[in-house]
Amino acid sequence: LNKKISAEIDHSTNIDLVENIRVHLLGKKGELTKILKGLKDLTPSEKPVVGQLANQIRTQLEAEIADKKNSLEELKLNAKLATEKIDVTLPGRSFQIGTKHVLQQIQDQIEDHFLSQGFQVMYGHEIETDEYNFERMNLPKDHPARDMQDTFYLTPNTLLRTQTSAMQARAMDQHDFASGPLKMISPGKVYRRDNDDATHSHQFHQIEGLVVGRKITLADLKGTLQALTNELFGRGHAMRFRQSYFPFTEPSLEVDISWNIVDDQTAAEDIEWIEVLGAGMVHPNVLKMAKIDSEKYSGFAFGLGPDRFAMIKYGIDDIRHFYLDDLRFLKQFSQVG
Ligand code: PHE
Repeated sequence: LNKKISAEIDHSTNIDLVENIRVHLLGKKGELTKILKGLKDLTPSEKPVVGQLANQIRTQLEAEIADKKNSLEELKLNAKLATEKIDVTLPGRSFQIGTKHVLQQIQDQIEDHFLSQGFQVMYGHEIETDEYNFERMNLPKDHPARDMQDTFYLTPNTLLRTQTSAMQARAMDQHDFASGPLKMISPGKVYRRDNDDATHSHQFHQIEGLVVGRKITLADLKGTLQALTNELFGRGHAMRFRQSYFPFTEPSLEVDISWNIVDDQTAAEDIEWIEVLGAGMVHPNVLKMAKIDSEKYSGFAFGLGPDRFAMIKYGIDDIRHFYLDDLRFLKQFSQVG
């Protein structure tokens, strides 16, 4: 009996078969179990002989079963490891990852430029109060110039900011002028109630700049902007200043940059100008509201349109390309910046 079973165990190729043999032999109704239960019917002289033999067989077969189970487990594991093996030398499968949007790239470049000039970057709030967006910018409630920026109001006193200038007063409030001049830029989205077309969008981007300190002049503003455009575009693009009006600057300017590359030989009528920013010297009223002594301190501010900067830098002729999510357009900028 035990030889036959040993061979059966040996030939079993899976654990279930081995378990079957165990149940048939050693289970409650198993053959060997029956023999052991039948011991009581044997004669006293047979009992010890048969009992000893049966126990011996049981111990032996139990051990064989356990061994077989172990080796089968091991085989199973090895087979599993073999099929799940990873060949780390195979080339990876390529997949598409996103890249930075061209507007984000321009914003990063402008931030880097100003950081290198000792400016801090302050991110403001797209939801602003009427106080910071308008009143602190020298635009009291009934000021006619409020019409220049048709506003999305959320409540009578909160709105979607129409200009990053809203960060000017917050920056002045926070700054400790005893530690030196305030130099900051503030990039972000702004909102106006416009009908969208080729040159207008109800949401667009601005980067505010503000410097307040001792003896800050219009020449500093001009030099700051010239340094930015030189770095961003190289030297071929001309820049011009036009007189303008903003309630929070005096004097106020608008700045154009030439769309085309020009030099001294270029005729004036061949220069294509594109307006890129508003700027000026901080109005004394704005300083006063920030409790800054306008006799002692002066400053300049500008609000530039990064969308326009990107158009000039990359020769993009329609502002809507930025917002249409056309991969053929966006992919052209996956390697730059
Ligand atoms: N906030 C102005 C605008 O949105 C731009 C500006 C900023 C002008 C700072 C002067 C100084 O049109």
